[in-house]
Amino acid sequence: MDLGLKGKVAFVAGASSGLGYAAALALLKEGCFVAICSRNEERIQAAAAKLAQESNSNNILPVVCNVKDEAAIQAAYQKVTDHWGKMNILIANAGGPPAGFIDDFNADQWREALELNLISTINLARHALPAIKAAARDEGLARILMITSVSARQPIPNLYLSNTARAGVQGFAKSLSEELGPLGVTVNTIMPGFTKTERLSELSEAVQKRTGQSIAEIEASWADANALKRMGDPSEFAATVAFLVSKPAAYITGIGMVVDGGRVKHLV
Ligand SMILES: NC(=O)c1ccc[n+]([C@@H]2O[C@H](COP(=O)([O-])OP(=O)(O)OC[C@H]3O[C@@H](n4cnc5c(N)ncnc54)[C@H](OP(=O)(O)O)[C@@H]3O)[C@@H](O)[C@H]2O)c1
Repeated sequence: MDLGLKGKVAFVAGASSGLGYAAALALLKEGCFVAICSRNEERIQAAAAKLAQESNSNNILPVVCNVKDEAAIQAAYQKVTDHWGKMNILIANAGGPPAGFIDDFNADQWREALELNLISTINLARHALPAIKAAARDEGLARILMITSVSARQPIPNLYLSNTARAGVQGFAKSLSEELGPLGVTVNTIMPGFTKTERLSELSEAVQKRTGQSIAEIEASWADANALKRMGDPSEFAATVAFLVSKPAAYITGIGMVVDGGRVKHLV
């Protein structure tokens, strides 16, 4: 299927590794021009070099940007539009907050997590709007996709911070999809289940500290909770990203797409 993404410009946040990196790679392979950001110059440059090698494309713009910093987001977007003259697609993403239960976090840690996963997403979307609306008007393809978590649909016991922040993003995305729908801009979220990235190692180490289980036991229990009895590969997640921002997905907006191997047991 032709996804209609050739020559479109995408901004993928939190893309030096993990799900953001995999999403950037999938979009490059579809012929997009892709700006990638993360907090760390060395890591984002290394990711750009690796992406060029893996995708056989040089249409990559690495940008240092901490998505918690609103001014840095604005500066990053300016670089993208100065470089390529437009921006069709935003993939909002960042790292995840620490694991823990109600007594583990003080008010500052709650604020920190909401800044990392909720406020950053709002600011990434707000400041992308001028370019995204222009892309809808000029090229008929404009997409906002926010990476949240399966925890927004079914909270994960030790992930209070994530469970809470992601639920906020779901509300924001749904609101924005209503407002931008008449312009032809689609706004969706994508909710990964347990997928093999650095984040997953962070989470398994947190569980190991609390329970004393081995990493292998923890990962086996996660896999066992899924209908498919295995964890996800970032490329599987990225394939869904590419579809959701594609031209054929023009009639899909306001949804949360779960990519979790059948972890969540809801009926519809
Ligand atoms: N993997 C899973 O199983 C899973 C499941 C559900 C939800 N999620 C969520 O999906 C998102 C991506 O997960 P992942 O597995 O790809 O995580 P990851 O492997 O830890 O990668 C996170 C990426 O975000 C970047 N980053 C972190 N904080 C940032 C910030 N403030 N500003 C800009 N970039 C930032 C990191 O790069 P630098 O260090 O270079 O800045 C890195 O490239 C996270 O929010 C995670 O909680 C993941």
